[in-house]
Amino acid sequence: MADVLIHNYTLLPVISRFNIKLGFGDKTVKEVCADANVNVDFFLEITNSFIDEDYIPQKELNSFPVSLIVQYLKKTHLYYLNEKIPEIEKHIHLMLAEETKANEKYKLVENFFIEYIKEITTHINREEITVHPYVLEIEEAFYKNTMTKAVYDKINSYSINDYASEHDNIEEKLFDLINIIIKYLPQAKSVGLCNTILTELFSLEKDLNIHAALEDKVLIPKVAAMEEKLLSLYNPS
Ligand SMILES: [Fe+2]
Ligand SMILES: [Fe+2]
Repeated sequence: MADVLIHNYTLLPVISRFNIKLGFGDKTVKEVCADANVNVDFFLEITNSFIDEDYIPQKELNSFPVSLIVQYLKKTHLYYLNEKIPEIEKHIHLMLAEETKANEKYKLVENFFIEYIKEITTHINREEITVHPYVLEIEEAFYKNTMTKAVYDKINSYSINDYASEHDNIEEKLFDLINIIIKYLPQAKSVGLCNTILTELFSLEKDLNIHAALEDKVLIPKVAAMEEKLLSLYNPS
């Protein structure tokens, strides 16, 4: 496990989502996962997608329960809202405070990010409040192989395709901010601070891309297939 992290330090925030703590000595990935009660195959699928961004392991991930995927998505949401975003926000405020002349362009970056926080919070809240409870309910009905009128009504009032169609791309907007800073922001007084912000934005953007791929390419098709099977079982009479 130590070798994996030394070669791919960007995995550090990922392992904490699995409640894996540093200090595991020479233990293997399998041993560390067993100690932390983590599904090692799922762990490897997620870490592989961070090591190789083109690796979207749809087929393999499909074999894991929806509940396991949702658990990971929730942990990632917490990491964005409670750690990464406040950290970037703090650095943007610091950068702005260092500019003696109230530079309009710096203020623009701050306002852009404040708007972005509102947007990502709304996005995450919808998933936590509406989508996650819904997909867990669908999975439960699917495993029980029973279709009730209540589940039928739920699918009709908000199906996974409704989520798919309103699932907006929050990573693209972050890339816009990266572009604004690189192309249009005058040289900051603290170049180091500006570079720290850019590095943090790139890392959040990468994380969000992997997160969204898990939602769009794994969770949505998996739940859609479950809905289809459940609807085929339904006999209103
Ligand atoms: Fe999400
Ligand atoms: Fe999302």
